[in-house]
Amino acid sequence: MGKIILTGDRPTGRLHIGHYVGSLKRRVELQNSGEFEKIFIMIADAQALTDNADNPEKVRQNVLEVALDYLACGIDPKKSTIFVQSQIPQLCELTCYYMNLVTVSRLQRNPTVKSEIQMRNFEASIPVGFLAYPVSQASDITAFKATTVPVGEDQEPMIEQTREIVRRFNMLYNTETLVEPDILLPDNKACLRLLGIDGKAKMSKSLGNCIYLSDEADVIKQKVMSMYTDPDHIKVSDPGKIEGNTVFIYLDAFCKDEHFAKYLPDYNNLDELKVHYQRGGLGDVKVKKFLNAVLQEEFEPIRNRRKEYQKDIAYVYQILKEGSEVAREVAQQTLHEVKDAMKINYFDDIELLNQQIDKYKEVK
Ligand code: TRP
Repeated sequence: MGKIILTGDRPTGRLHIGHYVGSLKRRVELQNSGEFEKIFIMIADAQALTDNADNPEKVRQNVLEVALDYLACGIDPKKSTIFVQSQIPQLCELTCYYMNLVTVSRLQRNPTVKSEIQMRNFEASIPVGFLAYPVSQASDITAFKATTVPVGEDQEPMIEQTREIVRRFNMLYNTETLVEPDILLPDNKACLRLLGIDGKAKMSKSLGNCIYLSDEADVIKQKVMSMYTDPDHIKVSDPGKIEGNTVFIYLDAFCKDEHFAKYLPDYNNLDELKVHYQRGGLGDVKVKKFLNAVLQEEFEPIRNRRKEYQKDIAYVYQILKEGSEVAREVAQQTLHEVKDAMKINYFDDIELLNQQIDKYKEVK
């Protein structure tokens, strides 16, 4: 059996360059590698609603934003099926059965869910749907028999939960219907969790420290020029620190040796630049201008492709609709096999019918 990818994002905002280095770029490479038989990319609107039940309009708006960001990055609807989670009711049905295989305390121990509960002040009143979203995520993954789930490290507990559900299901029902997925983490350390431009925490919409894929050139430049560096690097002649210096963290994530020849030919590579910065005599503005050039080169084509798709929004919705139809068929097939394995297929099971007839033959 070929390898199958499933991954996705919650549509709660436009995607930013942290998403890009952390996952989108890799997805496009995987898509174009030819190594995968099928690729499913899901806009997880139902999961977004587990903590946005009071704000469906936000989710509704961002389904399209995320779709535009995907297409802009090079996700190709001819090679990858892009679909919308809520349009696949089979996923809810699977979740309903999987919930019987998971305990409440197991869900409460999930470290990602735990920290999300804290962040949202849900301690006193957790929505059931929110606590159970790792189970729903197991449905997303298993419905497509995904072998490979490319996601950030914060999703590791979800994949582990999925694997547990798969093992328990297959063992209980003596079947091989469900497939245990592997997580595929980003390969570059600097990309695991890109810091925001304030250097304080992971890039995140709520902290207002993002550079978005849809940001215009001048907005990117202004954000780069305002980036947090080394607060003790006051005069150009001062030695500077690389650790915790956001500009260098971004360079680690984005810059290649070719960029030096093009934009900063006094240096051959990032190591040389770092050495000079640490020694003193290299100003922040020069490094920021270089980073800006690197980011502009990477994101200009993406922004332009986004604008092309923005001219034909009806077509973008059509892509999502057709993708959802394909996804529904695949999920339906798995659901069918799941119900067979659980023997809740009363009307397609001739054996059951004959058994029951036999059972009642003797009864006069
Ligand atoms: N939890 C993921 C996120 O917050 C989104 C998601 C939902 C997902 N279902 C998934 C990711 C299945 C991978 C596989 O970004």
